[in-house]
Amino acid sequence: MKHYFWTVMMAALAFVCTACGSKEVGNKQLVLYYSQTGATKTVAEKLQQMVNADIEAIELENPYTGTYAETIQRAGEERASGNMPKLKPLKADLSQYETIYLGFPIWYGTYALPIVSLVKEYDFEGKKIVTFCTFGSGGLEPAMEDLKKALPKAEIADHGFGIRNARIESTDKELNRFLIDYGYMEGQVEALPGYSEMQPVTEEEKMIFDAACSDYQFPLGTPVLVGKRGTSESVDYIYQVESRGATSTIYVTVANEDGAKPEFTRVVK
Ligand SMILES: Cc1cc2nc3c(=O)[nH]c(=O)nc-3n(C[C@H](O)[C@H](O)[C@H](O)COP(=O)(O)O)c2cc1C
Repeated sequence: MKHYFWTVMMAALAFVCTACGSKEVGNKQLVLYYSQTGATKTVAEKLQQMVNADIEAIELENPYTGTYAETIQRAGEERASGNMPKLKPLKADLSQYETIYLGFPIWYGTYALPIVSLVKEYDFEGKKIVTFCTFGSGGLEPAMEDLKKALPKAEIADHGFGIRNARIESTDKELNRFLIDYGYMEGQVEALPGYSEMQPVTEEEKMIFDAACSDYQFPLGTPVLVGKRGTSESVDYIYQVESRGATSTIYVTVANEDGAKPEFTRVVK
């Protein structure tokens, strides 16, 4: 009888330990990303190191290998026809992951077409999804909204990380802040003040806006109002901009260094 008792106890203990083990596996994190020209890959790899996650690149049966113009042409046709790029099967077993950092370039104002294919194939039920993206000018916010609609069974975080490909060398610093601010990594960063009240743009602030935006490939509009804040590293501006009857918000930063060139960090439509 005594022997039977210990056998049952050992079996129960083994069961509990197995359950603990599988829970641990279920807490794992995966960085899953698509990148055509390497910008999103750069962010994905830094993110993987910072949060100590697994990583997988989404691959296509028929990759986009052409120039920018050729990709625009092919993706434009696929988008119009609804004939989305076919993915190679994912190697990762998604059931092993609780949090997925999902990364992509912005195409046509939202997530790139390979992600359209991904969310058709996988519903990410019960997964916490943190989005990150790279872009020419912006698009994180609509991409997150579109993901919420496409993946109603997943929990899409309300915050995401986005960076212009032209500012990719600032990834380390900005990703570090993002991960600490939202509790994905331990550490401390300078608390940033709020922006001042929006005021009509002065001549000098218009020159700063132009210096930041005029070499972008598309016109970004005319700044009308501006707010400012100073940090230990930069002066940041938030411009309200009018363009062909629409209003957008454009963020500009100027490093506290002699001769620093103003840079716009993102456009929010
Ligand atoms: C087909 C296509 C559409 C794009 N559309 C947008 C867009 O709507 N807005 C934007 O800011 N950038 C747009 N871009 C620029 C990409 O988002 C940007 O180059 C990105 O950093 C590329 O990431 P990757 O190097 O990881 O592929 C587009 C690029 C391509 C090829």
